[in-house]
Amino acid sequence: AAVDNSLAIVVGSGYGGAVAALRLGQAGIRTLVLEMGQLWNTAGSDGKVFCSTSAPDQRSMWFRTRTEAPLATFLWLDVVNKDISSYPGVLDRVHYDNMSVYVGRGVGGGSLVNGGMAVTPVKSYFAEQFPTVDADEMYGTYYPRARAMLGVNTIDPGWFESTEWYRFARTSRKAAGNAGLQTTFVPNVYDFGYMQQEAAGTAPRSALAAEVIYGNNHGKRSLDKTYLAAALGTGNVTIHTLEKVTSVSRAADGSYVLTADRIDTTGAVVETRSYSCTYLFLGGGSLGTSELLVRARDTGALPDLDSTVGAGWGTNGNTMLGRANHIWDTVGANQATMPVLGIDDWANTDNPVFAEIAPLPMGFEHWVSLYLAITKNPERASFTYDSASGTVKLGWTPAQSAVSVSMAKKLFDRINLANATIYRYDLFGGASKVFADDFCYHPLGGCVLGRATDDYGRVKGYDRLYVTDGSLVPGNIGVNPFVTITALAERTMARVLAEDTAP
Ligand code: FDA
Repeated sequence: AAVDNSLAIVVGSGYGGAVAALRLGQAGIRTLVLEMGQLWNTAGSDGKVFCSTSAPDQRSMWFRTRTEAPLATFLWLDVVNKDISSYPGVLDRVHYDNMSVYVGRGVGGGSLVNGGMAVTPVKSYFAEQFPTVDADEMYGTYYPRARAMLGVNTIDPGWFESTEWYRFARTSRKAAGNAGLQTTFVPNVYDFGYMQQEAAGTAPRSALAAEVIYGNNHGKRSLDKTYLAAALGTGNVTIHTLEKVTSVSRAADGSYVLTADRIDTTGAVVETRSYSCTYLFLGGGSLGTSELLVRARDTGALPDLDSTVGAGWGTNGNTMLGRANHIWDTVGANQATMPVLGIDDWANTDNPVFAEIAPLPMGFEHWVSLYLAITKNPERASFTYDSASGTVKLGWTPAQSAVSVSMAKKLFDRINLANATIYRYDLFGGASKVFADDFCYHPLGGCVLGRATDDYGRVKGYDRLYVTDGSLVPGNIGVNPFVTITALAERTMARVLAEDTAP
């Protein structure tokens, strides 16, 4: 096959890929972005680009015939998931042996499907996780740069206190307060001014119409509207969609050679393409980048990759759970899909937990308080290449999930005790499953900064090869991760453009 030459290639168009693409384009470097998902900008026959969580169709999930929503059941009933036709939809759930991981697929990666929570970790924990990174510079330069570019904003507190759409959050705040726990407002990239117009009935509804994990038709400042729009605006960046990079190697002249499968909307491979480039930036996310590099090392394509490639992976301590409120503590039939409050018990050194107060918009009163707990689980796993099957496996075990569960349980037992309430047993499948211990939203690690790379994401063993995504984060960051991933990518690009690409 013919080889397409680019000066720089970026694999993936999530946070890490989008930052790389913009900064390369601004530096005048001809850049090609290869993204396995679709460009989500064309309305379907219903006039909408994305479908809602209440009426999922083929656009919801990546090549599935039935949706696989985080909440498997309601009142133990299989009412949540729906049959759909197979199609390159926007949300994927990648199944490893003991852990499945939700990821976004499309131009914008996770930004298309996530809850938009734009949280900066406490500085001391950042410094603990990244001892070789100058935290002052991160908090003085790169976090502010990332937040500004991402369009981070905060909810108007007066509106929050009065609107029916956040009753669920106020009810959860009250329950936490009864246990002596602090809650904190969390910024978001969803435009809260737009959300207020939705509530007033002056703009089409999105966050107020159960849209989130299968995409938002309005209001959300996803990467296609921020970094990637700016990247394309430089005139130096091109994005190819529905092209999955399957291998990376190096030619004799030192250029990188990539193989990519171009698929159609049935998933059939219609062409296998070869690309070559001088500079290669990996932004396929923790799973995508780790898989590519582990395979490259262990098949001998890039044999000098460090032995720590694939290691240091964690779930950010994710555990989901629900509590049942008393009949007088209603959560409301109307719930906005963008979380804005967290229970912040991270400073509790015995049991550090930051729990996002999550919505459960079902269109009727259900008295459920839902949470995504982020725990300081120290457990880590590795990706390994299985030569027999040619696949990359993840060595995470149920015992490692149990560590997150016991930390979340300690916190929520306190809340239940103080409020004389109980857990919900009907949400995650099985007869009495309280804690969702088998999936996560925050895959982190696999190519950890300062171990598998230098302190700026330059991959050890190979020059002009960089990692810019969540695989740099060592398994846990204590809060929702995308602002950190974006800020680290900004830091890498500033350094690389200053030192590595000068003519
Ligand atoms: P990301 O996963 O964003 O992007 C990787 C891209 O590369 C994808 O588009 C993928 O298709 C593509 N790709 C992968 N392999 C490839 C290959 N071989 N070839 C071509 N393309 C390839 N975080 C947060 O901070 N606040 C929040 O509120 C939430 N909420 C949330 C909800 C849900 C449902 C999910 C799934 C996730 C979140 N997150 C979140 C997590 C957040 O979205 C996540 O941490 C980031 O998207 C990770 O950014 P990356 O750049 O690492 O990869």
